[in-house]
Amino acid sequence: MAEGKKILVVNGPNLNLLGTREPEIYGDKTLDDVRALLLAAAGKLGVSLDFFQSNVEGDIINYLHKNRVADGLVINPAAFTHTSIALRDAIAAIGIPAVEVHLSNIHAREEFRRVSYIAPVCIGQISGFGIQSYLLGLEALVDYLSVNLGK
Ligand code: DQA
Repeated sequence: MAEGKKILVVNGPNLNLLGTREPEIYGDKTLDDVRALLLAAAGKLGVSLDFFQSNVEGDIINYLHKNRVADGLVINPAAFTHTSIALRDAIAAIGIPAVEVHLSNIHAREEFRRVSYIAPVCIGQISGFGIQSYLLGLEALVDYLSVNLGK
C-alpha cells in the first residue's frame, strides 16, 4: 500500500502559462486544473501531494534536494527534458522513484523533442494524453510504490 506516502509533482519552464500557451498543442487546461485533477485522485489513493513549478533550472534542483525524503516524483521537466543533464543528475542523486510526464507526444514532434535526458533515470515516461498524462503518471507511480517496493 502506498497510503500515507508523499509524492512530489514538479513542473518545469513555461508550464505556468498552461491554458493560454500554444493551446493547439498543450490544450486549454491550466496548471490549476492539473492540480485539481491530481488532488482528487490523491484523495482516493490515500497519498499526499506537494506541487512545485519553476522556470529556473537551479530552483527545481534545489527543490528536489530539499524534498529528497519524499516517496515519489511525477515530473514534467518541459524543455529541460531535452537539455538538462543537471536535472537528470539531481533525480538520480535523490534516488526516489520518478515518472516523467508530457502533455504532448514528444515523439511525434520535432526531432529535438524525441530525446529525453530525464527518461533513463525514471521508472517510465507518459507522453501525449494532455493533462491525463499527469493522472496516469500518478497512478503508475502509486502502483509501482505498492507493488514493486511493497510500500
Ligand atoms: C512538454 C514537451 C516539451 O517538449 C516542451 O518543451 C514543453 C512541454 C509537454 O508537456 O508536452 O514545455 O514537456
